[in-house]
Amino acid sequence: MSTFGTAFRVTTFGESHCASIGAIIDGCPPGLQLSPADIQVQLNRRRPGQSDLTTPRNEKDAVLLQSGLEHGVTLGTPIGLLIRNEDQRPHDYSETDLYPRPSHADFTYLEKYGVKASSGGGRSSARETAARVAAGAIAERYLKLAHGIEIIAFVSSVGKIHIPVAAVSSSEDDENDDAVEPLSDEFRKLLASISREEVDKHPTRCPHFETAERMKKRIVRAKEALDSIGGTVTCVIRNLPSGLGEPVFDKFEAKLAHAMLSIPATKGFEIGSGFRGAEVPGSKHNDAFVRRADGSLGTETNWSGGVQGGITNREDVYFRVGFKPPATISQAQATAQYDGTPGSLAARGRHDPCVVPRAIPIVEAMASMVVMDLLLIQKSRQAAASLLPPITTLPATMVMPPKV
Ligand SMILES: Cc1cc2nc3c(=O)[nH]c(=O)nc-3n(C[C@H](O)[C@H](O)[C@H](O)COP(=O)(O)O)c2cc1C
Repeated sequence: MSTFGTAFRVTTFGESHCASIGAIIDGCPPGLQLSPADIQVQLNRRRPGQSDLTTPRNEKDAVLLQSGLEHGVTLGTPIGLLIRNEDQRPHDYSETDLYPRPSHADFTYLEKYGVKASSGGGRSSARETAARVAAGAIAERYLKLAHGIEIIAFVSSVGKIHIPVAAVSSSEDDENDDAVEPLSDEFRKLLASISREEVDKHPTRCPHFETAERMKKRIVRAKEALDSIGGTVTCVIRNLPSGLGEPVFDKFEAKLAHAMLSIPATKGFEIGSGFRGAEVPGSKHNDAFVRRADGSLGTETNWSGGVQGGITNREDVYFRVGFKPPATISQAQATAQYDGTPGSLAARGRHDPCVVPRAIPIVEAMASMVVMDLLLIQKSRQAAASLLPPITTLPATMVMPPKV
C-alpha cells in the first residue's frame, strides 16, 4: 500500500519520471505553525546533486503546499503537498527496455502488475521518498514544538569502513564473552550529543571526520570503477515520552522496522544492542533501574534501545539500518534480457554510487512518522481514560507508587 500510519496517515503518490510526486497527510493536529521552509530544509538534505558523491540528477524539490493550512497554521484537515519532477531524462534508460536491471525492481514490478513504467524505476524509484521526507518534516515539527523530541540520523558505515566509536572489540573466545560490552561509551556519548549541524559538516554525513574522509574516498573509488557501495545509517530519537507503542503487533520497534524496511535499498534493521546484544550474557545486557533526579525510574544502561515490551521507556531510542549498494551500475554485467536472452548490461543514466548520505533525511522522516502516529494513539487513550472518575480501590501492586 502507499499509505503508512493509523492516526497520522501519510499517502504518497508519484513515479520517477511523471509530472509530480506528493503526499496527503491526514491526522495532523490543528494549530501547528508550519511554513514551506520547515519542510524544504529536509528536502534539501535529500535532493539529488548535493555533492559529487550523489547522483547528478538536478531536482530543486521545491515543496508546494496545496491544502490543510491557512496563514501558516494547520487546520486539522488533510494537508496536500506537491513536488514537481523537472529533470527527467527517460532516454537514459533505453537499455532497460530490454534488460531488467539486476537487483532492481524492474522484473518484480512487471511480474506483479503485468505492466510497468516505461522508464526509470517508476514507483520503486527513491524519487518517491521526497514525498515521505516532506510529510515527515511536518510530523517532526509537531514533535519538536509539542514535546522537544529530537530525531538525528548519521552515516555509521560505508562498505567496511565503520565509524570507530560504533565498533567494540569483540572476542570470538566464548569463555570470555562476558567481558564484551555491546556498545562503547564513546558511541553512547555520540548518541546523546549528536546534532544535525555536526552531521552535515561532511558530504558523507558521517560525524567522525577521519572516518568520513575514508568513506568519501571509498565512494569515489566505487564511482570511478562504475560500481556502487552500501552502508549503514544510525538514528537516535531523544526526549521521547514513555508509553509509545501498541503491543502486541504494533510494538514500537515493529513499527520502526516496518517504516525503515519500506525505504528502498534497505536490507537490515537493528535496535539497541541489536545483533551484538545476542553475543553477551544477560548479566551484561540487563538495563538495571535507577532513581532519576526527578524521582522517576530510569535505567543505568540502555542496551534495550529505549524500548521494552514494545513500549518506549523514556530512554533514547537508537537503531541502525543497513542499505545495499545501489543496483544500477554502469559497469557491464553479464545478465539476461526480459525474454531470457543472455547478454551484457552497462546501465546509462544518473545514479547514486552510495545511497547513505541521501538516506539520512529519509530515515529521520520515517522515524518521525512512526513516533507521531504512536504518540497520537497514546494521547487519545490517555485523554479518554482521564475523563473517567478516579479509581481508589485497586491493590497497590497494580499501580505506580508515588515518587519519593
Ligand atoms: C536515497 C536513495 C537513492 C537511491 N538511488 C538509487 C540509484 O541511483 N540507483 C539505483 O539503482 N538504486 C537507487 N536506490 C535504490 C533503489 O530505489 C532500490 O534498490 C530499488 O527500488 C529496488 O528496491 P529494493 O532495493 O528495496 O529491493 C536509491 C535508494 C535511496 C534510498
